[in-house]
Amino acid sequence: MTPSEPRNAPLKPDPRLNAYFSDEDERRRVTRAMFDQAAAGYDEAERLTGFGSGPWYRHEVLRRNGLAAGMHLLDVAAGTGLVTVAGLALVGPQGRVLALDPSPGMLAELRRKVDVETIEGYAEAIPLPDAHVDFISMGYALRHVGDMDRAFAEYHRVLRPGGRVCLMEISRPHNRLGQWLLATYLGRVVPLLSRFGRRQADVGRLWAYYGDTVAAAIEPAQILDTLRRTGFEDVRCSVTFGIFREYLARKPAQAS
Ligand SMILES: C[S@@+](CC[C@H](N)C(=O)[O-])C[C@H]1O[C@@H](n2cnc3c(N)ncnc32)[C@H](O)[C@@H]1O
Repeated sequence: MTPSEPRNAPLKPDPRLNAYFSDEDERRRVTRAMFDQAAAGYDEAERLTGFGSGPWYRHEVLRRNGLAAGMHLLDVAAGTGLVTVAGLALVGPQGRVLALDPSPGMLAELRRKVDVETIEGYAEAIPLPDAHVDFISMGYALRHVGDMDRAFAEYHRVLRPGGRVCLMEISRPHNRLGQWLLATYLGRVVPLLSRFGRRQADVGRLWAYYGDTVAAAIEPAQILDTLRRTGFEDVRCSVTFGIFREYLARKPAQAS
């Protein structure tokens, strides 16, 4: 299958997120400001979510899925660098890591902890040449991407033949109790706990939004389907504790 052409028609955000924005431009403005304002407190709030998705888990997912010494990694939606740091440890001194994110505030936090090249940009328009990297990671950000087709087409373009993509994401629990528990925890408990955190940053609003994006998240089957349609092979997904998902795919070694 050949990679699909990016769609031209503008996408409408999921109506369940209408309280935050009503079109893609507004989504970008609002979410960028939200991430900028929350950047200083992001890592602490992330620790509070405590579902095991911290640095150790990110490292383990990348290692298990083939990120190895000497590789050239692009970490998309790098944020404060929780995946980037894990990636850097795995590729080692012979490897190379690029971190891309639209939020200057998040990237500033990343640069405080790790010395890698940062790129301000979106998954849907990656300012890199074709066939440039061996591995693409994306941690907990697919829910924030307005055009998944376009993002995956970009991943396919910038990966070298045989390169891999590894997306970590939370999915909506299937039963109502699980949905309620997750929404309450992310939307109410974490924002409350984060008020007692050391770093004064607006993470409460971000985590309330976080809960709403989980509720509005694209179904796993659709994500897998889009990866296949984009031209990836060996497309699969594994689940931990019913909510943590790893989406994996490989760009064919030979053009078909
Ligand atoms: C929840 S943070 C995840 C950060 C990090 N990957 C981690 O694992 O903790 C989501 C990040 O996605 C970024 N983001 C939002 N929309 C994006 C897009 N369309 N393309 C790339 N990154 C995006 C935000 O700026 C934010 O830093």
